[in-house]
Amino acid sequence: MRFEILTLFPGMFHSPFQESILAKAIEKGLIEIRIINIRDFATDKHQVVDDAPYGGGQGMVMKVEPISRVIEQIKSKDPSAWTIYLTPEGKPLKQERVKELSLRSHLILLCGRYEGVDERVRELFVDEEISIGDYVLTGGELAAMVLIDAVSRLLPGVLGSDRSAMEDSFSDSLLEYPQYTRPANFRGHEVPEVLLSGNHQAISLWRRREALKRTWMRRPDLLKKAELSEEDKKFLEEISKQMSLNGDNSHKR
Ligand code: ADE
Repeated sequence: MRFEILTLFPGMFHSPFQESILAKAIEKGLIEIRIINIRDFATDKHQVVDDAPYGGGQGMVMKVEPISRVIEQIKSKDPSAWTIYLTPEGKPLKQERVKELSLRSHLILLCGRYEGVDERVRELFVDEEISIGDYVLTGGELAAMVLIDAVSRLLPGVLGSDRSAMEDSFSDSLLEYPQYTRPANFRGHEVPEVLLSGNHQAISLWRRREALKRTWMRRPDLLKKAELSEEDKKFLEEISKQMSLNGDNSHKR
């Protein structure tokens, strides 16, 4: 998978891709990341990349010409490259879309700054607009990193085993069950006994139920999409009854 990042702040990308799983994925040639400074595609003496908005108003707008030059150059070599503009006005990113994007081979990620890009960039050069959440960042750079991270870990060979991605939260529309490691007792807080039992069937059942319980408490919206067995449904009914008796449907913020 090839990612091309179009940014006015290339320095922001230096360390995130030099650590851990993404660094290894780059080393193995599973992903390739090119960071392009949009300023290098400004042709005037002062390499101007932004300008005041027509009609007045605060801030600056990213100019269409330098961005058009970069995207057209990339697309002239690979017309299949898919251009994503990271903006809080885009469609909220979900794991399903991450999966679909991981099937592409070439993504262009355009990072907005200031008051955003000239509207004609969006009309003429952008295939898709993505937001990583309902909050406003100082620019699209961090959002591009999030997208690259989420997509890359789904590519074959990037995670240690294919199972790790399969068992993620959201991969079956459920949150994950709680995990513990040594010590078995920390300040009186003990690891659930079943996990020490060596009884794999009992452990599987406990984990399934904990995942269901956690999803029910934190993200009940996800349960609508989850594949639930009759036993799962019965369990959910039980905890729903129990919790309403206790008046407890809260979760940690
Ligand atoms: N740029 C600024 N805020 C953003 C967000 N929430 N998602 C994507 N790009 C952004």
